[in-house]
Amino acid sequence: MTTKILIGYATRYGSTQEVSEVIASTLREAGFEVDVKLVQEIKSLSDYKAVILGAPLFMFHWHKDVLRFLSRNQKILLDTQVAIFSLGPTHDPYDEQEWRDSWSQLNKELENYSWLMPVEIEMFGGRYDPDLLKFPLKMMAGKTPASDIRDWDMIRAWADKLGGKLK
Ligand SMILES: Cc1cc2nc3c(=O)[nH]c(=O)nc-3n(C[C@H](O)[C@H](O)[C@H](O)COP(=O)(O)O)c2cc1C
Repeated sequence: MTTKILIGYATRYGSTQEVSEVIASTLREAGFEVDVKLVQEIKSLSDYKAVILGAPLFMFHWHKDVLRFLSRNQKILLDTQVAIFSLGPTHDPYDEQEWRDSWSQLNKELENYSWLMPVEIEMFGGRYDPDLLKFPLKMMAGKTPASDIRDWDMIRAWADKLGGKLK
């Protein structure tokens, strides 16, 4: 019997969607049936044994669409296995303080959802592309170079570990 999994993601510039797709294909290879949807397009959770929620941090906060999704679906999520991943750090080379900051931003957000008991929470490096920014963020960005520190091996390994827990 398959365990149907839903990956619900929020994104502004697309990198979280690509991470969601890689998690989905890793879980499919492990035998799961997986749907991938933007959180605002999720109509029902009743078909799913587990929900993986992924979203990036922006301006010290988790993407507002995923926070809204958590608030609206508290009742059903209490009866569903939930795993969480966030994208945040983008500095290349690795910046330990940046990772600590991203983790504390995520943990602070999740404190507001103390009813949520995720089976897994993970932080992945993200992608920063100044060409995608619009005014006024483009002005504020200065000369920070583009980076993409998404670690696909780490992402696949996390998906595999999660698959083991959800079986
Ligand atoms: C304007 C802007 C603000 C950001 N603010 C934060 C932040 O406060 N904390 C953090 O960890 N990452 C921050 N990031 C990094 C994003 O989380 C990262 O770029 C992520 O990959 C974006 O995901 P998306 O492509 O799915 O929208 C910021 C990125 C941008 C462009």
